[in-house]
Amino acid sequence: MMPDLFLEERRHIILSPGAILLGGFALNDAEKLLVQIDHLATFSPFRHMITPGGKIMSVAMLSSGTLGWVSDQKGYHYTHTDPKTGKSWPPLPPEFLALAQNAARSAGYHDFKPDSCLVNRYVPGARLTLHQDKDERDQTAPIVSVSLGLAAYFLWGGLQRHEHIKRHKLFHGDVVVWGGHSRLAFHGIAPLEEEIHPLTGSIRYNLTFRKSG
Ligand code: SIN
Ligand code: FE2
Repeated sequence: MMPDLFLEERRHIILSPGAILLGGFALNDAEKLLVQIDHLATFSPFRHMITPGGKIMSVAMLSSGTLGWVSDQKGYHYTHTDPKTGKSWPPLPPEFLALAQNAARSAGYHDFKPDSCLVNRYVPGARLTLHQDKDERDQTAPIVSVSLGLAAYFLWGGLQRHEHIKRHKLFHGDVVVWGGHSRLAFHGIAPLEEEIHPLTGSIRYNLTFRKSG
């Protein structure tokens, strides 16, 4: 585990205009959030989606909220129902919503009303290649992204795919918020290293809150 002193030092880091890393922001809620993730997975199981190019994603996902992000051979899109169960996605747990809104507010986004939370599950070796979050109809709202469990390197670029990429290590409880000029910044997650976290073992979870509709 990281010593508290180090946490203090990395409290708030501006990644680019409109984008901020809130170090440890979700630490106090982390255990509750992990319980909720397990609960959500009993309604909508984690699954490895297929990219439009036909590859199986190394990250397993589920969604909650009125809309859920899915990838399949037709492309990336939002749906009202879980294609795996044929039912609505499970509703956003109140703890999730409160945390996302508090984090957005701390980053200067006061009216964040997410309708979707994508839960990503990574094991060592899993990664998310560089991409923009641009499947949302409303791109004025920020993105709130919560890291739990194993640490990972967040790749943070610019508005063009080939702009210089910086790496920021995201630890259990860290939250990244990006909007405004950085809303469409390229980002990704480098392949996870083999490690063990005291709460999640060899797993990293990420909650991505978005206003999609
Ligand atoms: C994402 O970009 O959708 C997830 C980022 C992360 O896992 O931290
Ligand atoms: Fe993303």
